[in-house]
Amino acid sequence: MNILTGFNLRYGLAILVLCSLSPSWAWGVENAECLECHSDESLTKESTDNILNTEITESLYVDEESFNHSIHNDNGIACVDCHADIEELNWDEELPHAATLESVCCCSCHEESAEEFKDSVHMEIRKKGVTMTCYACHGYHDVKPMEAALVSERANSVCLKCHNPAHTHDWLPAADSHFAFVECVVCHAPEVPRTINLRFYDLVTNQFLSGDQLLDTLGIEYDAFMTTVDTNGNQQIDTDEFDDLILMLKQKDVHAALRAELVAEINPLAHNIRSGSAQKDCGNCHAADSPYFNTVSILLTNADGSIERCTIDRSVLQSYYVNHFYLLGGTRVKLLDKIGLLILAGGACGAGLHLLGRILTSPIRRKKSKK
Ligand code: HEC
Ligand code: HEC
Ligand code: HEC
Ligand code: HEC
Ligand code: HEC
Ligand code: HEC
Ligand code: HEC
Repeated sequence: MNILTGFNLRYGLAILVLCSLSPSWAWGVENAECLECHSDESLTKESTDNILNTEITESLYVDEESFNHSIHNDNGIACVDCHADIEELNWDEELPHAATLESVCCCSCHEESAEEFKDSVHMEIRKKGVTMTCYACHGYHDVKPMEAALVSERANSVCLKCHNPAHTHDWLPAADSHFAFVECVVCHAPEVPRTINLRFYDLVTNQFLSGDQLLDTLGIEYDAFMTTVDTNGNQQIDTDEFDDLILMLKQKDVHAALRAELVAEINPLAHNIRSGSAQKDCGNCHAADSPYFNTVSILLTNADGSIERCTIDRSVLQSYYVNHFYLLGGTRVKLLDKIGLLILAGGACGAGLHLLGRILTSPIRRKKSKK
């Protein structure tokens, strides 16, 4: 009995070790096997479309390079993890798997996102006969990590595939600035946690400085960045520490500023877009104590697409070195705010004028409330 248990244990351990060494072997089909056929650009399938009932030719080509850089491949998700109805390939047949495969359910791994999507306007449209898949927004073989992406690369380009916001935001002054610096879902999925991403921008070359470039300039490694900059050791970069950092860069002949963007955190709540519930209250953002600016961090982007986040004090948003993020109502020179608003909101409708009124009268109201 004892010998048997010992044997089983050793046998089990050996399997465990083998599994951890070669997970795809243990589970069967390797990506490379699928790609033997599907990396062929000319591989197609003849079928009949279900709308016009005509003959169509579908490409069955999978771009290996692009797939290899996807977040799924990075996390060890293989072809057969999504195409889960292929359990094995039968190499005796010309076509080693069923000719028609089940459609992939993203929700099998992303339950929380699917749950939030359930009550959204994009699910509602099913009632009108419009079906929207998860990959209408995300794609499928080339889903890239979104955290380091710019507003323009993020949901803005996702949403712009189907919407033209130019027609639906007449009431919003400087709408183009909002679209450039505020991600759509920050307003449209108001419960999603959000954050301000700051990136270094080289004022001479007019290009973003990557984390690697920045650290090269400073002559330090990643792990040394915070200890070098955060001199008082409170785990965040304070305004004076930030000024020192800018000075250090200047001494190395790099003239940099920060560019700010208001983006959503990568969170399932981003799916909860509903009709008529978007953020419209200017004062929620354009106020000195706006909850929208509670988390502010500098992003150091690496060549491989990964990022480091360094927390920075929100008062840095008022720094001269934060370019084009002139937060009316929440910023530096109050008088400039008022003049800026007057000019910019000149053509705007009631909402803008209301805000203007509030800001102009705020000293009076403040005095009143003190009394
Ligand atoms: C020997 C070549 C070969 C290999 C290996 C192969 N496929 Fe295919 N695959 C094909 C061909 C050919 C078709 C088109 C079948 C048809 O005409 O109906 C196809 C079709 C498909 C389709 C479309 C099915 C549909 O319902 O339209 C998917 C998805 C697919 N393959 C995934 C995979 C995956 C995943 C693997 C690896 C586990 C794999 N294939 C391995 C040749 C191959
Ligand atoms: C994250 C999940 C996921 C992974 C991983 C994945 N696929 Fe797909 N694949 C899909 C989805 C979604 C579709 C769209 C059609 C559907 O729902 O089946 C698709 C479609 C296809 C098609 C049909 C042609 C096309 O592009 O629409 C082929 C062939 C295919 N996949 C092969 C592969 C191969 C080979 C791999 C591994 C290199 C792979 N897939 C990995 C989700 C995935
Ligand atoms: C209308 C476009 C849209 C559709 C459709 C959509 N998503 Fe998303 N998804 C987003 C946005 C926006 C984010 C947040 C990232 C960002 O701010 O860019 C996100 C984030 C995610 C994340 C990361 C969340 C996390 O906590 O890691 C996953 C996973 C995800 N979506 C899966 C899905 C699945 C599954 C479906 C289908 C049920 C789906 N998405 C449908 C737009 C969409
Ligand atoms: C077999 C499990 C599995 C399936 C099926 C799957 N995913 Fe993923 N997905 C993952 C894993 C693992 C990650 C990386 C960890 C994480 O962010 O949750 C991920 C991450 C993501 C992200 C987050 C990107 C980011 O920036 O953090 C999105 C978006 C996403 N998947 C979309 C999809 C879509 C769309 C489909 C369907 C075509 C799909 N996934 C199908 C496992 C899966
Ligand atoms: C694949 C196309 C597609 C994509 C991508 C898409 N949408 Fe939509 N969206 C629709 C459709 C279709 C409707 C329904 C329009 C209607 O009912 O008139 C809709 C409705 C809406 C509505 C409600 C409009 C109304 O009339 O009440 C909002 C808000 C919205 N989408 C925001 C977004 C945002 C934000 C994104 C990006 C995260 C996005 N959409 C991505 C297709 C899309
Ligand atoms: C400053 C906040 C804000 C930003 C940023 C924003 N929106 Fe809106 N949007 C709104 C509000 C408020 C409405 C009015 C309808 C509502 O309350 O949903 C609206 C209306 C819409 C509508 C029409 C809804 C309807 O009821 O007819 C669509 C579609 C839409 N937005 C898409 C987008 C897209 C796409 C982006 C990103 C390019 C975007 N929005 C950016 C706040 C915003
Ligand atoms: C979700 C937060 C948010 C809401 C809601 C919002 N804004 Fe903004 N707004 C911003 C941000 C962030 C910027 C900074 C963009 C920049 O620097 O150009 C901005 C910029 C502006 C600008 C200056 C644009 C420029 O080019 O300098 C004006 C004017 C403005 N907003 C007015 C308004 C008014 C009026 C409303 C209400 C109808 C409003 N905003 C609602 C976040 C918001």
